[in-house]
Parts: sequence; structure tokens; C-alpha cells
Amino acid sequence: MAEELRIVLRNYGKIDPLKIEDYIGQGGYKALEKARSMGQEALIAEVKRSNLRGRGGAGFNCGQKWSFAYQTSADKKFVVCNADEGEPGTYKDRLIMENDPQSLLEGMAICGYAIGAQQGFIYCRGEYPQVADILNQAIAQAKEKGVLGDFEVEVRSGAGAYVCGEETALIESIEGKRGEPRFKPPYPPSEGLWGQPTIVNNVETFANIPIIVDKGAEWYAAIGAPAYPGTKVFTLTGNVNNKTFFEVPTNTTIRELIYKFGGGIPGDKKFKAVQIGGTSGAFIPSTLLDTPLAFDNMSAIGATLGSGAVFVLDETRDIVDVVTRIAGFFEHESCGKCAPCREGTSRTAEIMSKINNGKASFRDITLLERLGRVMSYSCLCGLGQAAPAPVLTTIKHFKADYDAKLL
Ligand SMILES: Cc1cc2nc3c(=O)[nH]c(=O)nc-3n(C[C@H](O)[C@H](O)[C@H](O)COP(=O)(O)O)c2cc1C
Repeated sequence: MAEELRIVLRNYGKIDPLKIEDYIGQGGYKALEKARSMGQEALIAEVKRSNLRGRGGAGFNCGQKWSFAYQTSADKKFVVCNADEGEPGTYKDRLIMENDPQSLLEGMAICGYAIGAQQGFIYCRGEYPQVADILNQAIAQAKEKGVLGDFEVEVRSGAGAYVCGEETALIESIEGKRGEPRFKPPYPPSEGLWGQPTIVNNVETFANIPIIVDKGAEWYAAIGAPAYPGTKVFTLTGNVNNKTFFEVPTNTTIRELIYKFGGGIPGDKKFKAVQIGGTSGAFIPSTLLDTPLAFDNMSAIGATLGSGAVFVLDETRDIVDVVTRIAGFFEHESCGKCAPCREGTSRTAEIMSKINNGKASFRDITLLERLGRVMSYSCLCGLGQAAPAPVLTTIKHFKADYDAKLL
């Protein structure tokens, strides 16, 4: 198996996650101490210089986001960790929280110090009750040791809606409301939880922070792809030999991930496609396998890095059938707040099902493409904007599979 580079998962298997002493023994909480001695502005500048970009999907510069919340004056500010992890095929945040919960708490406390927040929330996927339990034990131990100072952290449980991973829907949900996205702007760093400046970052983003503060921005910025430095944790599923997770530098190519780390396709079958980034990810054909797994390289080929889920399909898979199931997922998960998504996801599922059942003509494909384009421009949040990606990219790269099912 090829060599991984474990930065976020640096303590995986090396410490007892329920013993804070183990984490401290590995140098834990030194970064928080260092951060406090640096001062808020120098700390934010350091995180900005590292060029750490969000690992939750949007790839926004983390230090820059923090500086917006720092610059907004308010009585109260909040730090929110997005641990909703609702993306099918993704379990990287669970790995971090189960195996090294203190690294997440330390990252959140550093953010709290940077922006001037004393309260943090971890919005944990409702289907992860065991993780919430671990987090609560970790918080209790950190409190007892006094390592977090005046920074308080509370775990809030999600209720199983995919849209609640979208940061403003998540904020609504923590406030006790129905999980629906808000209109943006204002963005959470200026007006978030209870109208106060709020930083929402992903678990993997926060878990990167202590080591960046400890080893410095230059060290981090030199790893992986320069425009999206560091590592990324990927979870491999589908027709691949090693169905497991890998943390690799961001300049690793898709081919290396599937063949070197993933061990290739079982039964010597041929590769057909790979979907990266979760259900709303693009389907990528073999001609693009040498693309590096960095945010901008993926955007350049019309794909996204998303959550880091990697779903491999071999030559025997019926791609139209797979996309029909995905369309059903989005129809189910659309929250219904905006018409383009509410109607668009239902119509997409309807037309995909018609095609899959051999009852459609080429006109339905044209309609699907138009509908997808309209949704990507007009839906309120990323759910509806990205939902057409699997449809549009498979029509583009695997047109013959659609044609074979038309009347
Ligand atoms: C439908 C939808 C679901 C999302 N689910 C998640 C999620 O489960 N976890 C996550 O970190 N970000 C998720 N996001 C992205 C968040 O809105 C947000 O960009 C992210 O939490 C910011 O953190 P980061 O800058 O550290 O990536 C989702 C976005 C959308 C549109």
C-alpha cells in the first residue's frame, strides 16, 4: 500500500481518545497556549498564510473567514463545528471525532480565541450517537483539566436532514427552528447564530488548526498543491479493493488514490467512472484520472472535491440506474423552501426514472439538461445548485449509456 501522510489523523491509533492525558502527551494543547501568546491578529494572519481552505466542501480560506468575524464587533460571537456529515459514503469526520476528539476541541478553542468567542457548538450528525457520547466525555475531561480556559463547548444533535449540513440551515437548526437555508448575504461571520458573528467550519478544518499553529504556516503551505495545501482525508467505496480511508497530500491524483491506495478494481474489471465529493459530485471518466485531488484542479474539470467521498464504478455498473437513485435522494432531501429545488429535484427524479425504465426520448435528455442548468443558477442553496451535477456530467461523459435506454 502506498504511503499516506497523516496530519489530521496524526494521533489515529496512537492515543486513547478518551484519555486527555494521551493527547497532552503527544503535544496536545501546546498550540492553544502558543495561539494565545501570539495575539488575535497575528494568529489569524498565520492561519491565512497557511492557506488552509475549508474541508467541508466550499474550499473557502479559513483565516480569511475568521478575520471577517474578528472584525465584526458584537457582544457575543460563536464558533460552530459542522459535524453533520450527511453525505453518503463519507465518514472522515467520524474518524477524527472518534479517534482524536481533543484535536477538534483544541482547533475550536483556537478559533474562539482568534475571533473573540467564548461559546462553541458541535452540530453532530444525529445518526452518530456514539460520537456525541465521545465528544461529551472529551469536553468534560478538557473542562476538568482547565485546558479550554473560558471557552465552553456544547454538542447539539442533528435530526437526520441532509440539508442541515448547509451552514445556514445548520444554524437555524441549532436555534431550534426547522432546518432550512437562509438567504445570503448576510454570511454567518457577520450574522450567524442568533444574529451574532459566527464561524462555521468543518471537523477536518478545525482538526488541522493545532498542527498549523504548532508547526507554522510555511510548513503547512509547502505540503500538497500550493493553491489548496495540506492533506485531505478520502473515504473509498464502490468497486475498489481497499474500501477504506486514506489521508493523502492534495496533489495526489485520482488515479493514484484509486490504484495505489485503493488497490484498483476487484476481479480485474475495467474502470468505468468515479464520483468524487458525495452524491452531488461529478462523475469522472478514465480520461481525467490524472487530475490532482485539489480543489481548483477538480473545479477545472467541472468536478468538486466536496466531502472527500470517492465512489468507484466498474465497467459492469449501470450508470443511468445509479444516477436515477441519486435523483431520488435529492427529491427526498430537498427542504422545499425554494421552488427551483423543490420542483427541480422532483422533475429530475421523474425524468431519470422515465429514462431508466426505457420510456424516454432524446427530448427528455434535452429537458434534463435545461432543467439542470436552471437549477444550478437559481436554487437558494448548494443542495439544489449541485443536485444536477451527477445528471449533467453523466450525460456529458457517458451519453451512450443514456442513448441505449431511449425509445
Ligand atoms: C446540502 C449541503 C450539505 C452540506 N453538508 C455539510 C456537512 O455535512 N459538513 C460540512 O462540513 N459541510 C457541509 N456543507 C458545507 C457547509 O455549508 C459549509 O460550507 C462548511 O461547513 C464550512 O466549513 P469549512 O469552511 O471548514 O469547509 C454542506 C453544504 C450543503 C449545500
